[in-house]
Amino acid sequence: MRRPMVAGNWKMHGTRASVAELIGGLNQQALPVDIDIAVFPVSVHLGQVVEGLSGTVVSIGAQDCAVETGQGALTGEVSSEQLLDVGCKLVLIGHSERRLILGDSEEQIVRKFAAAQVAGLVPVLCVGETLEQREAGETLAVVERQLDSVIDALGVAVLSSAVVAYEPVWAIGTGLTASPEQAQDVHAAIRARIAGKDADVAGALRILYGGSVKAANAADLFGMPDIDGGLVGGASLNADEFGAICRAAGN
Ligand code: 13P
Repeated sequence: MRRPMVAGNWKMHGTRASVAELIGGLNQQALPVDIDIAVFPVSVHLGQVVEGLSGTVVSIGAQDCAVETGQGALTGEVSSEQLLDVGCKLVLIGHSERRLILGDSEEQIVRKFAAAQVAGLVPVLCVGETLEQREAGETLAVVERQLDSVIDALGVAVLSSAVVAYEPVWAIGTGLTASPEQAQDVHAAIRARIAGKDADVAGALRILYGGSVKAANAADLFGMPDIDGGLVGGASLNADEFGAICRAAGN
């Protein structure tokens, strides 16, 4: 049995004041204890969120990490060791906004994934196709290429201490959710691809769905056999909504 996970990606949102309010709201929620819950604030708010949610079931993660480990001359970057040091447990790797807007390459994503694991963080590897790619029938080819970059470079065993998030780009922030069946098809294909290399790793791997997840659609998505939870953007900025999504995964 895979333990469900619900993760909130706060993206580039928040001020110290609004983050304090969100922390307060999360502290009021009855959160299930039989799933893993994590939130990913911007890096300057990590310390505040680690402190504000200490003693709760919520883990804290970062939205990105440096390609290099440790410390050094890499202006503007934050290393996995530094993230671990401030209390992070996880890190998003290869979110589509980083791939498409910030230009993260497959090579950088592999290096970031490896750096995260060296430090002891759990990488959440994000994959997903654009609308053009879906309409061209390239969904599985794109997602498999993104997965294979990491597997070919680092070996399939690295996925035994990682999480994968399938986030179709056309469903992110658009209100257009993939139907549970559409998402399930891709999740099953991801698991089958990995099972072709190692069935045990594939069976244990948590594959989250992301793209306009909200309380109203969470239960249907999470009810699919290969959807092990969600990576939630916009709806994670509302504590009541995020709490309801977490409870949907716990049922
Ligand atoms: P939305 O839930 O806002 O569509 O964002 C999804 C996402 O990108 C999470 O990483």
